[in-house]
Amino acid sequence: MPVPQRRDFLIGLAATAATAAGSAAAQQAPGRGLTAIPQLPAEGVLATDPAYWAAIRSLYNVTPDVINLENGYWGVMIEPVRRHYMAMTEMVNRDNSFYARTGFGRDMEPARAALAQALGCAPEEIAFTRGATEALQLLIAGYNRLRPGDSVLYADLDYDSMQYAMNWLKDRRGVDVVRFAIPEPATKAAVLQTYRDVLAANPKARLLLLTHLSHRTGLVIPVAEITAMARALGVDVIVDAAHSWGQMDFRVGDLGADFVGFNLHKWIGAPLGTGFMYIRKGRLPDIDRALADEDWPATDIRSRAHTGTYNFAAFLSVLPALRWHQQIGTRAKEVRLRYLRDRWVGKARGINGIEILTPDEPGMSAGITSLRLAGKTSAADNNALVALLREKHGIFTVRRGGVAKGQCVRVSPALYTTEADVDKLAAALAAIAAQA
Ligand SMILES: Cc1ncc(COP(=O)(O)O)c(C=O)c1O
Repeated sequence: MPVPQRRDFLIGLAATAATAAGSAAAQQAPGRGLTAIPQLPAEGVLATDPAYWAAIRSLYNVTPDVINLENGYWGVMIEPVRRHYMAMTEMVNRDNSFYARTGFGRDMEPARAALAQALGCAPEEIAFTRGATEALQLLIAGYNRLRPGDSVLYADLDYDSMQYAMNWLKDRRGVDVVRFAIPEPATKAAVLQTYRDVLAANPKARLLLLTHLSHRTGLVIPVAEITAMARALGVDVIVDAAHSWGQMDFRVGDLGADFVGFNLHKWIGAPLGTGFMYIRKGRLPDIDRALADEDWPATDIRSRAHTGTYNFAAFLSVLPALRWHQQIGTRAKEVRLRYLRDRWVGKARGINGIEILTPDEPGMSAGITSLRLAGKTSAADNNALVALLREKHGIFTVRRGGVAKGQCVRVSPALYTTEADVDKLAAALAAIAAQA
């Protein structure tokens, strides 16, 4: 049985050539002809350079049946990564346990090292998980410094399953669970004041959950400033970075937090079922081993994330996905997504009867932004808006609930989204608002 060759794990552009061979479909696939990412455009046109973004678009194979502005669920893999994933699936299926037991651990080390380098941390501070949910549930459940009578804090905009995990701490650890609302419309000053007030009102607070980039509204909160505020009061912070890393260009140190959950299948473009947790060196003792794991020593972060049998092929595609992400340009991605967002939001703000939930203030948004028709805050209202956009205008979006001031519709473009797509959204909103 052949042992997988090193070249199977070559990264980035080279991996494309190595893994695309042999598949007739792959010969036809978009991105096949793109043998190199063009040179990054100059700063002034980084977000807009037509040739550059057309080249990036050619890496994607997406349905022409709808304008998909619901890319926050997960990210379409670009064709070279998809092809690599298919090749790895074939290899893993062929080589089975022989590969899993003799090669996989070794082959994942470069991915772990590359992720650590991209994040500006040590590989020993990273453990792979199947996504952000798994990483964050393990961090929240495993945080062992809580005592009965302590408080834990979270906001309306935090992700549902993380809210459930925080609520669960009441029974598990005997703590008081405090939930509060982020102001709307949000400003940086108002968000900071909200966290300042909540921390001041809860002197027994020990743990705070922060969502860097909200999946409900797209709001980006000033995590580093809030973390510093919390730390000064002896409150630990767990950061949900499910939507931020990849959509935004930052290093984990920029967050100032000791515990962070990430995925790789949204904005890094790795296959579904990939993510990881970060625990800052020195903080490992504060997170329990995952259900008393005995596979790894307690001093190894991998004992904090005991996943069963992996989708090996998905994890073997993390490194090429990361390399492509870096070659497209981490900053280029951020500015492109923000440009697309600003383009439709700029038009929509001028439409009577449309409320935009995410501020234009620098640093407070990235590619995602939510809206609603003025005063239309119910699930039914927003389901109706989603249906209208889809059925009358061919634009796919999603309703999001859980926002204290009412439900909304989320718009999340991707790198394959065009200016024409977001202009069509703005025109559709104008037409809908005129008839509301
Ligand atoms: C803010 C936020 N946190 C966590 C998650 C869960 O991520 P995953 O799919 O990686 O488990 C999501 C997914 O949509 C999210 O939006």
